[in-house]
Amino acid sequence: MCGIVGYTGKELALNPVLSGLRKLEYRGYDSAGIALALDSGEKLWVEKRAGKLGNLEEILGTKIPNSHSGIGHTRWATHGGPTDENAHPHLDNEGKLAVIHNGIIENYLELRAQLEKAGHKFKSETDSESVAHLLSDARKKHNGDLAAAMREACQQLRGSFTLLAIHSDEPGRIVGARRNSPLVVGVGDGENFLASDVSAFISHTKRALELGQDEVADITANTIVISNLAGKIQPHNEYEISWDASSAERGGFEHFMLKEIFEQPRAIADTLLGRITGLSEEITNRIDFKEIDKVVIVACGTAFNAGLVGKYAIEKWADIAVDVELASEYRYRDPSVDSRTLLIPISQSGETMDTLMALRYAKDKGAKVFAVCNTNGSTIPRESDAVLYTHAGPEIAVASTKAFETQLVAMYLMGLHLGRIRGTISETLLSQIEAELAELPAKVEQVLETVEPLRELTRNFSTASSMLFLGRHVGFPTALEGALKLKELAYMHAEGFAGGELKHGPIALIESGTPVVAIMPAAGSLLAEKMASNIQEVKARGAVVIAIADSELKAADFLVRIPSTHEFLQPVLAVVPLQVIAYEMAVARGNDVDQPRNLAKSVTVE
Ligand code: G6P
Repeated sequence: MCGIVGYTGKELALNPVLSGLRKLEYRGYDSAGIALALDSGEKLWVEKRAGKLGNLEEILGTKIPNSHSGIGHTRWATHGGPTDENAHPHLDNEGKLAVIHNGIIENYLELRAQLEKAGHKFKSETDSESVAHLLSDARKKHNGDLAAAMREACQQLRGSFTLLAIHSDEPGRIVGARRNSPLVVGVGDGENFLASDVSAFISHTKRALELGQDEVADITANTIVISNLAGKIQPHNEYEISWDASSAERGGFEHFMLKEIFEQPRAIADTLLGRITGLSEEITNRIDFKEIDKVVIVACGTAFNAGLVGKYAIEKWADIAVDVELASEYRYRDPSVDSRTLLIPISQSGETMDTLMALRYAKDKGAKVFAVCNTNGSTIPRESDAVLYTHAGPEIAVASTKAFETQLVAMYLMGLHLGRIRGTISETLLSQIEAELAELPAKVEQVLETVEPLRELTRNFSTASSMLFLGRHVGFPTALEGALKLKELAYMHAEGFAGGELKHGPIALIESGTPVVAIMPAAGSLLAEKMASNIQEVKARGAVVIAIADSELKAADFLVRIPSTHEFLQPVLAVVPLQVIAYEMAVARGNDVDQPRNLAKSVTVE
């Protein structure tokens, strides 16, 4: 949801800013823009264009401006359409101060009216431009001190923001601030960075600083000063980034999504490492799990589907009531929550605004918060009592794959942990599941061997107008995830249903040739028989059935075989073919796989 990068240091700034933007483009791609402070102190160098970063790169030419500090922005439009004028950076009247913004300034209309009255001329329809004018006035008031100006401006802003600003009179200096939106500092050698996330600078440095709520970072090539809005210097927590730079590159793969699908065995193994037989005390000591009598999982999108699988596992193994809520619904319906509630927010980015707000709501009411997150140092883990980090590594494709797999693993680990503490899981079942968990990376590897024939099969359906997904038990949330992936990537109608619900309405959607993907429960189980009947019901009405199953299934038109595993763990295997179907469908329909239309990976607005 808008990517932001700032560079100041020994290199000419255009290259590090551009390469940072390439890494952040997954956050939004409605427009891109750069402002550089020229070493000569002349007026800022600014270029911006609607559309993807490639449009901006096309007009840049080969001449690299003589500048060692600058800021860059890639936009996911909220206020104002995706046009050149609305692209960031936004400038003050003199063209000397530039600002980029991620988030929403809720009081921008008020501010704009005041500023226009005072003679400021606006060029865009954005909420962000008002910050440029506000800062410009504040800087004059503070005798050219951009950090003091930023502190004052932030106090007048309502809403969420990450802001970066530069001024042509002070080349080499970048000032940033954050409230409810992400900003990290990259600490280099003779160079420093500010960015929405670490992927923008991991090829330069592995050292990063967390920035707290309402903090201002004032950086030059050799200095970093962090203060609060009152101007008091703040201590900061430096950490080492564990992701390696090559993991944010496409490697030999056609798309990031395909690469990430193939990284799943590694991601699962890394997330399981050292945790199968118990979570570390460093995590578990932070919450008294014996005091909990209800679990609420909150999440959005794919993470929500992982939470739904978590409900099946946690309720069964820990014998405790589990609700799974869409974060955007949860906080606005005044739910019952107290100090005996364990809230589990699940988030790849750790920055999703809806999830963060649900967390804050529950925390205010006394809930204990145990987050599942993939991004170190992001806001959700920082505001939680304890965190179970998933180790998916950087996920660049907008449609989530390996992060989902590791979220499932986190759900199982939590279920086992609660089951052990509450004494609700038998030793036999425990060791059976532990053994099956350990097998998962190799079994996913086996499923990946079916990718090529499945890609070929999928192409047969590329002109279908709709695709339905059926599942029972944990296969139901898996079906929901399969349908979500297809909507995101193929832009086609797709829905997931519980097999038992079919007869209560959805069966009316079936017509001759409708492709139906059936996720079969484990062979021999009672539910497998029920699903087999559901398959017959849709076939009788003309559906073409692609079954994902761990055994032969005559009724299916096409069969994708997956290895058998414990019934609760099956989504980890069954979702892989669903990801491949969505991927191939997007390729066949000529869609942008890694950056599907209208979406952004990290949604930091409500
Ligand atoms: C966006 C993305 C989804 C993602 C959801 C939650 O909508 O497009 O892929 O599942 O946000 O993101 P989070 O970072 O909180 O897991």
